[in-house]
Amino acid sequence: MKTPEIILGKTPYRSRRTLGKHHGVIIHDHGKPLISFSHNDYLGLAHHPKVIAAAQQALQDYGSSTNASPLVAGHTELHQALEEQLAKHLSQPKALLFSSGTLANYALIRRLGQNKQPFFVDKTCHASIMDGLAQQTNKVKRFPHNDTHFLERWLHKHGESPHENPPVVVAEGVYSMEGDLNLDKMAALKQYIPFELAIDDSHGIGVLGKNGRGTAEHLGVQVNIITGSLGKALASHGGFIAGSGSLIESLIQSARPLIYSTAIPPASASAALTALQIMANEPHHQQALHDNIAYFQRQAEALKLNCIPSKTAIQGIIIPNTDKLKTVHQALVKQGLLMGMIRPPSVPKNGSRLRICLSAAHSKEQIDRLLQSLKIALKLDHGV
Ligand SMILES: Cc1ncc(COP(=O)(O)O)c(C=O)c1O
Repeated sequence: MKTPEIILGKTPYRSRRTLGKHHGVIIHDHGKPLISFSHNDYLGLAHHPKVIAAAQQALQDYGSSTNASPLVAGHTELHQALEEQLAKHLSQPKALLFSSGTLANYALIRRLGQNKQPFFVDKTCHASIMDGLAQQTNKVKRFPHNDTHFLERWLHKHGESPHENPPVVVAEGVYSMEGDLNLDKMAALKQYIPFELAIDDSHGIGVLGKNGRGTAEHLGVQVNIITGSLGKALASHGGFIAGSGSLIESLIQSARPLIYSTAIPPASASAALTALQIMANEPHHQQALHDNIAYFQRQAEALKLNCIPSKTAIQGIIIPNTDKLKTVHQALVKQGLLMGMIRPPSVPKNGSRLRICLSAAHSKEQIDRLLQSLKIALKLDHGV
């Protein structure tokens, strides 16, 4: 059945691809092998033998499900250990697990909203942040992507009248559709304007900072709160909020997405815990990812691809005409390559793009094949 928006022609038709078995970056689509540039497995840890062994052991020791909310009986020693290690990894006092990154963002926005804190948010933040904010009765101001001057003006204006609580600025460490970052400029405002800075670092953890400690560590800045998904470099499923002890305690007492939702499976907690250990002990995965990013960028520049500037694993190639984007995407799939095809409303009008996710697990040959196929597909499609 079509949704009302599709009937009205407001959103492009979306469909899912039913995939078969995965062998690292090779996935099977009805028997046909495809090289995936779609998955956010930035360090290739979802297929690391230690991660798989840890998940298998947890399955044996704890069963396949927690079968309960964390506040009832779903919080195991694996969940506890993961929360402690996440907090340590991100240099935050405490961390709290949620069933997904989406629910973590909802819970955080709802909690901060209860303090009557106004929000200032980058317009391109993830849908879960925007949806959480849409339910707020507090003041919410959206500033244009990365426009720190705009933000500064709003913060100054806000500071002119007395307030009980400082505003919260919400941003992403690495933006999920652009792969870019400007947290340092934003954090610099904290030196002379009081506000709390909350970032979603789903795409920075594992990718940036020493041993993958994330965007804040990479840029040497302090943030108050970090949220994230375990479904990217952490090779698992679930989400978290990391911040002060009082924030975490207040969430345990009141966050409905925590209290009324089944805790993530022990195998997922164990996989993420092991991924954190690997980030600390095997830095060559992060190095391999950055070698691949630099390799892709050198060739993409030579080919004059219309790439969004990004030094992270997310590389966007803008193809403003959505029909052309579809043609190019289909040609690439035919060549055995899978990547995201992103259209409005997920991105702004004229911002349609191919979203390429690079991983430490890609070989140079696979990246060469991607680039050669892009060259052919883009050339074939005259006028791109
Ligand atoms: C920036 C960002 N935040 C949150 C999420 C949601 O995380 P999860 O998939 O764990 O719900 C995503 C996932 O797409 C994301 O890209």
